[in-house]
Amino acid sequence: MEQYIIKGGKPLVGEVTISGYKNAALGIIAAAIMTEETVKIDNVPNISDIQILLKVIEDLGVKVDRIGNHKVKINASKINTVTADTDSVRKIRGSYYLVGALLGRFNKAQIALPGGCNIGSRPIDRHIKGFEALGSEVKIEHGLICASAEKLVGTSIYFDESSVGATINVMLAAIMAEGQTTIENAAKEPHVVDVANFLNSMGANIKGAGTDVIRIKGVSRLHGSEYTIIPDQIEAGTFMFAAAASRGDVLIKNVIPKHLEAFTAKLLEVGVTVEEYDDAVRVVNHNRPGSTHVKTLAYPGFLTDMQPLMTTLLCLSSGTSIVTESIFENRFKYVDELTKMGASIKVVESNTAIITGVERLTGAIVSAADLRGGAALVLAGIMAEGYTIVENVEFIERGYEDFERKMQKLGATMAKVDSNDTKAIKKFKLKVS
Ligand code: EPU
Repeated sequence: MEQYIIKGGKPLVGEVTISGYKNAALGIIAAAIMTEETVKIDNVPNISDIQILLKVIEDLGVKVDRIGNHKVKINASKINTVTADTDSVRKIRGSYYLVGALLGRFNKAQIALPGGCNIGSRPIDRHIKGFEALGSEVKIEHGLICASAEKLVGTSIYFDESSVGATINVMLAAIMAEGQTTIENAAKEPHVVDVANFLNSMGANIKGAGTDVIRIKGVSRLHGSEYTIIPDQIEAGTFMFAAAASRGDVLIKNVIPKHLEAFTAKLLEVGVTVEEYDDAVRVVNHNRPGSTHVKTLAYPGFLTDMQPLMTTLLCLSSGTSIVTESIFENRFKYVDELTKMGASIKVVESNTAIITGVERLTGAIVSAADLRGGAALVLAGIMAEGYTIVENVEFIERGYEDFERKMQKLGATMAKVDSNDTKAIKKFKLKVS
């Protein structure tokens, strides 16, 4: 097990370049197995969730060539099974896109139920509803999602509540269905659009991605393509909030500022300066942030993934703030850890955090329980006086590429060490004291 050790109290200053979007890459890699021709994907983030998905498709018989750290060439002409039932499949959330992809191409898929961060119950009923509407039979048997159809036929699907995963999965299954499919109340998140753009580059006919009605005309086949994944809005948001929280000055490069508008709006509201450029944002802050209220919502609302980062920034604000989580029911696990560092946060009715700003946080030993909550603890460590140890960094590495290296480049005093290596911790403290 590895952990981060951080000596806090230094502003982050400099430039950071954002990697490709994990949640788009998961959908795009699954989509890439829907053609027999070769697909080249660029700006693939080098993180554990993506390495796991690439391994899972290799196990299906797909040829995967990694070219450097961020490019991958995929050829799925020799898929030899539609069943994926390994620990790797169960570890990540994005493996469920293989159901839509394999069902769409072969009319059959048997994929182990997905894992991912434990941030709520995370049912997949909307995915199943969509597959069934297209004419597939779907059963959950022996821990597998078993979907099969004689043929898939386009139809109209209405989601009572939007779901990123279900929208992408149904889009995949509908691409080669007979006739037209309409998805109403579709998710509008940037990664839904990116997956649709990628599928269109392979010859699909999808219109309306990014709005709440997506129309898909079934095509008979998909072909090879070369595609570059969009930048990760959550990684970008994390560095925006880290710059603000550390009272620093950071230029965050390779971003799409439009995708960051909800974060920018909240930062401006608490008194942080945000300058927008064509493909970069600069975040500057020299003061204690003000207080605010935030509710997480589907895009273009304030993203649930940024909720732990927002709460952490507000720990040192000059007033009382309220953060309401409306997407996942169990996304405040990091709060107990923040209180060990001196934060004053009360969670009521399990979905609302009331944060009373304090003047300082102090370093402590804390433990990551999920990806974004883990990143928030790193931010807290950077904001705090003294040393913070963040345990279970494997959660953070699921979704952030070179996290500690990017933070170090901005001046954070931080290192990754083995949990059992007490000497390394002593050495770090000696070096930075
Ligand atoms: N939901 C259902 N039934 C379904 C599907 C979703 O009840 O069939 C519920 C969920 O439980 C949740 C809400 O609908 O309450 C929204 O879930 P959604 O399907 O939109 O989320 P997801 O596809 O499971 C993706 C990202 C998450 C991100 C959410 C929201 C991936 C692999 N995961 O999850 O990312 O928080 O959308 O934007 O794309 C992360 O990156 O750390 C992460 C958790």
